Amino acid sequence: MTFSKNHSLLLLFSMAMLLLQCQGPQDANESMETKATPTLTSQSYGKTPDGQEVAEFTLRNTAGMELKVITYGGIITSWTAPDKDGKYENIVLGYDNLEQYIASNPYFGAIIGRYGNRIAKGQFSLNGENFQLETNDGPNHLHGGVKGFDKVVWNGQGETNENAAILTLTYTSADGEGGYPGTMEIAVVYKLDNDNQLIVSYQATSDKTTIVNLTQHSYFNLSGDFSQTILDHELSIDADKFLPVDETLIPTGELTDVSGTPFDFRSPKAIGKEVEAEDEQLVRGKGYDHCWALNNPGSFRKVATVVHPTSGRQLEIATDEPGIQFYGGNFLDGTLPMPGGGTYAYRTGFCLETQHYPDSPNQPDFPSVVLEPGQKYTSKTSFKFSTKTN
Ligand code: BGC
Repeated sequence: MTFSKNHSLLLLFSMAMLLLQCQGPQDANESMETKATPTLTSQSYGKTPDGQEVAEFTLRNTAGMELKVITYGGIITSWTAPDKDGKYENIVLGYDNLEQYIASNPYFGAIIGRYGNRIAKGQFSLNGENFQLETNDGPNHLHGGVKGFDKVVWNGQGETNENAAILTLTYTSADGEGGYPGTMEIAVVYKLDNDNQLIVSYQATSDKTTIVNLTQHSYFNLSGDFSQTILDHELSIDADKFLPVDETLIPTGELTDVSGTPFDFRSPKAIGKEVEAEDEQLVRGKGYDHCWALNNPGSFRKVATVVHPTSGRQLEIATDEPGIQFYGGNFLDGTLPMPGGGTYAYRTGFCLETQHYPDSPNQPDFPSVVLEPGQKYTSKTSFKFSTKTN
């Protein structure tokens, strides 16, 4: 009896120890979870027809947001964001593979350069010298020309710290590339932080006087369902004025007050609310395809917010740029393939491209886009996701 009593005590003691041991690793797991850090991985995404290797980087923060970027064009191919129930879904238009990006891309997700948007007839002059750029949009130059920064292979370098996954893309653009003067060294940094914010920073230098205006051309559809239009998204833009355009979408040079026009987004308004209004500017743009002159230039400030009421997804954009091009996907025409089948239909994505004004080299009253040797061009834009329910 005495022996078995001692035995039971021993058994109890051993069980308690075992329990304690089990507790140990569980605690360790918990502390590993609380110490989770952002990650960044890379893999091959194939080769361009001229044999250049293209890599795909995957950036992931601790909240669960994931961004995929390829070194071809610095293209963001996928970007997940949470809805009101915490469900992460891809909210940017893109393709399935490199071949499709090379075959025909309306700038989905790409870095745009050297010059975002149009330059009239591709012409400008600097210090009395005339330059002729390629014309690739009717009579005008658009988004860097035939082979802009959206179609070159960038060098990619990744790093992480406890707050962010960071991808630095670099590219050297040769003197005369696309008709632009000066050898240009460019760095674009995608920094995905744990607050579901992507900060895009641009830097450039040139060895000759030149022009530069870089931007990011992601097409968003916050519903996560690309068969839906973006007309129900509610947009606000902190701008009292916008830039009217001529028939070829070149700014006329005026800044027009948005009051009483379909271009007034100072309070949140569904994109579709007035897009079909009888308005000469909307006819010219086939909808919204204009630059807004943002309020409070010269500072980094919040400039636009988009809310998708059904999913509750909210995107807030801040920038130090003077303008934003709001393009409502008016040229999507049901011909480009959607991943998983189907095609991208009219107005199923919108772009908000932070930048200097279009055609600035030919508009002396617009903020300057001239970059001198020895100067450094810098620009910064953040895209912050959260949710909003009414
Ligand atoms: C321009 C549109 C153009 C589109 C290209 C936008 O930035 O403003 O006019 O069609 O890019 O997909």
